[in-house]
Amino acid sequence: MAAPLGLTPADLQHILDRIGAEMASAPDRGRVADYIPELARISDQHFAMAICTADGQCLTTGAADQPFSIQSISKVFTLALALGRFGDQLFARVGREPSGLAFNSVVQLESEQGIPRNPFINAGALVVTDAILQGHQPREVLGEILRFVREAAGEDDIHINKSVAASEAAHGHRNLALAHFMAAQGNLKNPPELTCGTYFHQCAIEMTTRQLALAGRFLMGAPGAARLVSPARLRRINALMLTCGHYDGSGEFAYRVGLPGKSGVGGGILAIAPGRASIAVWSPGLNAQGNSQLGTLAIERLARATGWSVFG
Ligand code: DON
Repeated sequence: MAAPLGLTPADLQHILDRIGAEMASAPDRGRVADYIPELARISDQHFAMAICTADGQCLTTGAADQPFSIQSISKVFTLALALGRFGDQLFARVGREPSGLAFNSVVQLESEQGIPRNPFINAGALVVTDAILQGHQPREVLGEILRFVREAAGEDDIHINKSVAASEAAHGHRNLALAHFMAAQGNLKNPPELTCGTYFHQCAIEMTTRQLALAGRFLMGAPGAARLVSPARLRRINALMLTCGHYDGSGEFAYRVGLPGKSGVGGGILAIAPGRASIAVWSPGLNAQGNSQLGTLAIERLARATGWSVFG
């Protein structure tokens, strides 16, 4: 397992604290998501960052023990589950290309006959959830997702916030539209309401920033990772995170940060330095693409300070 490029835990803690202080005085914090009313109530002042290194250190700065809504970051865990169950057959129903469009775009889905571009845009994540739902009750599938996340984090205190799920369901017209369109094209196997309901609950999982960094360790190939996902498969999940994890901001994130990452509209980002570290950040204000504004900046600064990059 690669050492964190000669950085001691004290060096890393110093870098984290410096970034935390810089973010506290950042002038532009982005805008908190308001299309899910329960998320609109969260202050844009929060900031937390956590790093778990391959040699077992876990360092944090800011409010790293405060739970937040992981939203689309949950798509990484459901993709891992679906690939474990169906392997590459899953890609008969969902592509592996960046979409270049917003995460909740409807227009591309029609022109591409109901096959979503990738598993991280909403339509693609609905297909992934639909696949793992088939033959099961939503309750069983949500239990399986929670078990996976808890095992990855090594912590049990991870739950679904039912108010957030209900809030999204009450305003879930776009996702229902995507699901109904895919049903019309034969690419949804369960009733749209059932798939969307399960998806809203998976997005409403709450984790602390520290727990999220812990849960990401399997993606850096930490010891024991193969228990959850095979090494070949986790490379592929990382490839999808790099190319599609930030939607129409994925190229910008790859350029600025140089690491696979997955964002969520709750303001979280999980980024992976393969063989070195799992990194989580939380700052609720979003940029125009729906990715955490300061979260992106913080990981960019971390990558620059540590030299962590998949590009050498
Ligand atoms: O489906 C939605 O719109 C939300 N539950 C998740 C979207 C999301 O997190 C996009 N990421 N930045």
